[in-house]
Amino acid sequence: MRTQEQYPIDVEAIREDFPILDRQVGGDIETPGEGPDDTRPLVYLDNAATSQTPKPVVESIVDYYYGYNSNVHRGIHHLSQEASVAYEEAHDRVAEFIGANGREEIVFTKNTTESLNLVAYAWGLAELGPGDTVVLTEMEHHASLVTWQQIAKKTGASVEYIRVDGDGRLDMDHAAELIDDSTAMVSAVHVSNTLGTVVPVGDLADLAHEHGAYIFVDGAQSVPTRPVDVEAIDADFFAFSGHKMLGPTGIGVLYGKEHILEEMQPYLYGGEMIRSVTYEDSTWEDLPWKFEAGTPVIAQGIALHAAIDYLDEIGMERVQAHEELLAEYAYDRLSEFDDVEIYGPPGDERGGLVAFNLDGVHAHDLSSILNDHGVAIRAGDHCTQPLHDKLGIAASTRASFYVYNEKSEIDALVDAVDDARQLFA
Ligand SMILES: Cc1ncc(COP(=O)(O)O)c(C=O)c1O
Repeated sequence: MRTQEQYPIDVEAIREDFPILDRQVGGDIETPGEGPDDTRPLVYLDNAATSQTPKPVVESIVDYYYGYNSNVHRGIHHLSQEASVAYEEAHDRVAEFIGANGREEIVFTKNTTESLNLVAYAWGLAELGPGDTVVLTEMEHHASLVTWQQIAKKTGASVEYIRVDGDGRLDMDHAAELIDDSTAMVSAVHVSNTLGTVVPVGDLADLAHEHGAYIFVDGAQSVPTRPVDVEAIDADFFAFSGHKMLGPTGIGVLYGKEHILEEMQPYLYGGEMIRSVTYEDSTWEDLPWKFEAGTPVIAQGIALHAAIDYLDEIGMERVQAHEELLAEYAYDRLSEFDDVEIYGPPGDERGGLVAFNLDGVHAHDLSSILNDHGVAIRAGDHCTQPLHDKLGIAASTRASFYVYNEKSEIDALVDAVDDARQLFA
């Protein structure tokens, strides 16, 4: 039974905005509706991969395509002006949401991965060289780890990793040892997508700055789930993805301090990012357009604006409280099984996700059984292969929560895990 009082937010009202949550899953995928009647209500617990999209966000996309679909910055006709204003205002809204100074500091990209690559290529290739180090954490997502690793190989820089301790916390003593005058960049995940660890990125920023290094914060899991203020953190760069925060796919954000972005050369060249072009040379547009070559992500940017409005209406403090409540509940319930191992810090110290393994059962087999129960979770290495190697496991099962999830859905997860236990006993 749903009781709203249990939650910091009005989950029941929020669920009304997500028609997908009424879906039945299972049965025949090839011919939906024609399979055997073994369907179950969807329990969507794969939010750290991609969140669902509420009606107002979908409507903002429909409004754009039905009402003012047009290229931006290219025409003086009415539709182009409307689209340009909406697209530019989306940058302002993002800036306000994360505490940036203004649209100059907000570059729209395709996703967090592209934001990381933009900085790694545009800044890293120009600035890194032999003798420089890039300091990462052992729990970086491949988006950060692989990108810096490869840029380091191209430039002769080296990569070092801050240890994660046995409880899944970042070893800050080790961070203080590693970050020194050879450090050019510290790149750290804000909330680990595998362990749920909340990394003290403000402290890392202080360490980086004491040694004249920059810090890039990967906020793919933090911006959707908690209030974030890039200035309070003192991040030099910060990135996140729209599709993990009720927005559409195809939109990511790169925040960069204005003076740093000013000094950087563009990452992609072409139309929209130039001021003047001759057969011999070209000059660049003002920020942020210098980094948005070609026709940009117009509909996606406008929809991200709508997603931020939706989250702000709920209130990010309350979103965080809800995430923490569900994470702790899931942690406690899964801890009831002595053959379930949970990775990362205790339930009251983590972001809204729990990765675990059931003894003797491969994560993929477990997720398949959960799927039979209608429970959508993620199985695999969650793009943190080296971290899984360190934990001595090939894969794990991850449940992750968002604003529309309820405790009863975690109960459904736990019941399904219990079924798997009986099956494999
Ligand atoms: C911590 C973290 N960083 C980066 C990414 C990459 O995000 P995207 O695939 O949207 O580029 C993810 C997505 O899973 C993530 O969880």
